[in-house]
Amino acid sequence: MTNTTPKKAPSVNFFKSFAMREDNFKMLTNAPQRFPELFTINFGLGKFYIVHNPAMVQHVLQQNHLNYVKDRGYEVLGILLGKGLITNENSASWRKQRTLMQPSFHRESLQRISEVVVSSTGRLLQSWKGKEGTVVNFTHEMAWLTIDIVSKALFTTDVTDEDIQMTWRNINYLNDEASRMLKNPIHFPFSFPLPRYIKARKCIAELDALIYGIIQRRRQQQNPPHDLLQLLMEARYEDTGEGMTDLQIRDELMTIYAAGHETTVNALSWTWYLLKQNAASEKTLQEESIKLAKDRNPAFADLPLLEYGKQVMNESMRLYPPVPAIGRKAAKDDDANGYRIKSGNIIGINITGLHHHPAYWENPFEFRPERFKNFEIKGDNRFIFMPFGAGPRICIGNSFAMMEMQLVNAMLSARVEMELVSKDIKPVPMITLKPGDGIMMRLKKVNAN
Ligand code: HEM
Repeated sequence: MTNTTPKKAPSVNFFKSFAMREDNFKMLTNAPQRFPELFTINFGLGKFYIVHNPAMVQHVLQQNHLNYVKDRGYEVLGILLGKGLITNENSASWRKQRTLMQPSFHRESLQRISEVVVSSTGRLLQSWKGKEGTVVNFTHEMAWLTIDIVSKALFTTDVTDEDIQMTWRNINYLNDEASRMLKNPIHFPFSFPLPRYIKARKCIAELDALIYGIIQRRRQQQNPPHDLLQLLMEARYEDTGEGMTDLQIRDELMTIYAAGHETTVNALSWTWYLLKQNAASEKTLQEESIKLAKDRNPAFADLPLLEYGKQVMNESMRLYPPVPAIGRKAAKDDDANGYRIKSGNIIGINITGLHHHPAYWENPFEFRPERFKNFEIKGDNRFIFMPFGAGPRICIGNSFAMMEMQLVNAMLSARVEMELVSKDIKPVPMITLKPGDGIMMRLKKVNAN
């Protein structure tokens, strides 16, 4: 800790902050214009920092990350998901777990998953065939698609369509329940017989029955498929040479479902919402996609050629970050970038604010995928653009998600004509940034091959 006089953070009084929060997303987006580094909200009992200064974000997420534990949001997730990577707060056990799981997200595994992505997207297009002229909730369609992809990436053919339906229903309910619990600063213990909790416990029980059933059957299988579940079951801790317990595998699988699903759905939804309002960008994407995905299926090896598609995804996640902010709590007093942080203070990393900060982005409110042409997410840029977080707790599924979204978009863009029906969708930031009740599209032409 230094002896210099600490900087004074601009403060917004608690009641005024409510007025600002009338539109939470706007508040996060516009905050840097008024407060270039950060501002605080005083609750009487504690202090809440909303930070969009890259140096301070780097301090919290990387340089002194051990002092910044995950905040209440993750406790709530822990009640519903158990102790998987995202909620694991014990740094030694988290590191052990992350080291064990990392290889499951490496190139070889992603290559296999890319085949699942292409086949599930093909199935979605088939289901759209004959629906030309009708209006679909595009966000729901993407939710169905991504749950299909992740289920098959995890379990190959061990899941039926009914299992996937049930998973989708239950994961959605649990995500919504986590958001409801987060909205209320005080909530009953999860064992309390509230109807909402009873329903949430039923969702967890159904998912548990599916997951444990698959694990048990898999243990008997002679020639198991080479999917994510198998990789997790075969992984061994370096120190003991042992594998994960069934409970640990279950917690990690629930975490992958919960962390990877809604985020990807939102990113895909916002991307098409933006493309439909930016015809030139949509055309450029289409030209690129047609070459690789019109008359044949795109493959993992095509990813470097889907360069504009990647720029589009980055620009969409800059404007509408699927995770709009992440929270940490200071374990001990600290000096962060000249500000005196007290133990117990909450730091909200304002990803949305960083992504719209006028000091780092030219015309920050405009959709311009080309700005990512020569933009590398490293060095100073790492803490300016961070849809997947940053530091040691960066998203383990980021390459999975980028690969999935690039391939899905290439296929949609090459084979489907759609028209945006929704107007002025309001972003709803909870844990993830939802597009209201979903983005409505009219299907005009579908080439399902
Ligand atoms: C567009 C899609 C996605 C976005 C924007 C996203 C964003 C994020 C962010 C911001 C974090 C960091 C949270 C924090 O530091 O508090 C995170 C962590 C995590 N994400 Fe993602 N994610 C996406 C997709 C996925 C997918 C597809 C998976 C799994 C297949 C996944 C699994 C995880 C896990 C397990 C963590 C916790 C990592 C750890 O703490 O070690 N995510 N994600």
